[in-house]
Amino acid sequence: MSVRLHGGKCAVAGGAELRMLGGMALVNENLLKLRASYLFAEISRRVREVEAAGTPRPLIKLGIGDVTEPLPESVRKAFASGVDELAHTETFRGYGPYEGYDFLREAIARYEYQDRGSQVTAEEVFISDGSKCDSANLQELFAQSCTIAIPDPVYPVYLDSNVMAGRTGFWSGDGYEEVTYLPMTPQNGYVPALPQGKADLIYLCFPNNPTGAVPTHEQLRGWVEYAQANGAVILYDAAYVAFIQDESVPRSIYEVPGAREVAIEMRSYSKTAGFTGVRCAFTVIPKELTLPDVEGKRHSLHALWTRRQATKFNGVSFPVQRAAAAIYTAEGQREVAALVQHYSANAALIRDTLSAAGVAHVGGEHAPYVWACVGGDSWAMFDRLLRQAQVVCTPGAGFGPSGEGHIRLSAFQSRAQVEEAMIRLREVL
Ligand code: MLT
Repeated sequence: MSVRLHGGKCAVAGGAELRMLGGMALVNENLLKLRASYLFAEISRRVREVEAAGTPRPLIKLGIGDVTEPLPESVRKAFASGVDELAHTETFRGYGPYEGYDFLREAIARYEYQDRGSQVTAEEVFISDGSKCDSANLQELFAQSCTIAIPDPVYPVYLDSNVMAGRTGFWSGDGYEEVTYLPMTPQNGYVPALPQGKADLIYLCFPNNPTGAVPTHEQLRGWVEYAQANGAVILYDAAYVAFIQDESVPRSIYEVPGAREVAIEMRSYSKTAGFTGVRCAFTVIPKELTLPDVEGKRHSLHALWTRRQATKFNGVSFPVQRAAAAIYTAEGQREVAALVQHYSANAALIRDTLSAAGVAHVGGEHAPYVWACVGGDSWAMFDRLLRQAQVVCTPGAGFGPSGEGHIRLSAFQSRAQVEEAMIRLREVL
């Protein structure tokens, strides 16, 4: 039996009979376009299968970027004191502000932006429970007709969430129809070139997931100028900014003049401060960012997102926001730097191992991911490392067609586990 859409109505063709379905709930067919299960869910499934069958030694997971080290002490204390405040009538709090508490928004505006010369105000900062959700939910700001440009390889959430929202066509064998893929390859240093044609929404992630590549200011300026010239909006994911080691690498899209009129920026505490389980992130929508409706009247995306969040979101819990604010204390900054340093040193070990084995790679310098050019079928390499080395990686093809021939190794592990994983990799590479 096949199901087709006819002028917004659904028809079921079964043999000669064609029957129109109406007056009943129908499934969102956009979800049926999704090609496979979510990348990291598929990896977990394969890992569980291998673990269930028994492995000669425990697996070492360098797949999904999930942190392993405990919360910084200042963050833990602030978290606990936030809970204590909720335990007393005088300091108890119920619903918080939809956009987040001022104490956190102000700290973010000051320490992440103003102190570095970007004029982001506290009012422009929206606290959320993760950049994964934000990067998917932000689509609600845009017309259904908006076209998208997506780096390839890419963090799968940007693309899959657009498929679910109906902004793409069907899978065509090497990509979804109606999507402009921006290949990131060894030839362009894994920083995508500007689209040839026109795209309305552009997703960029720097330091990049999965490749770990970073752009120059000049390259970012090119993207901002493209967005200005084409009436496009850049959705800039800077979740890994804390891993940048060099002052010459751009940390924020707002370092580029004019970006406030064309870009939204997302950041997360997941990898910076061990918040993958705690959940806290933020998104900046500058007041200057406006888009026209079909009649040409311009609307503030900041105002529309405020309205959207008030309707659909009740904020991040108070103790979690207290914990996040502790990151901006002097002690918090020292502890977070040590955490980042721990993972960065792991990344250096991974890079050294690949270099010694003669495997070309990028990333790991300003990012917690190392992108190794292993050649061939990346799922086959994933299976080989899993079965022969008992090391879990992420196959490049899972991030998009241009990811084929690569694997991603995550530095989010204990030192002992990374050292052991490197011994095992040397045996099989
Ligand atoms: C990754 O491994 O790419 C990330 O951990 C996934 C995520 O942040 O959702």
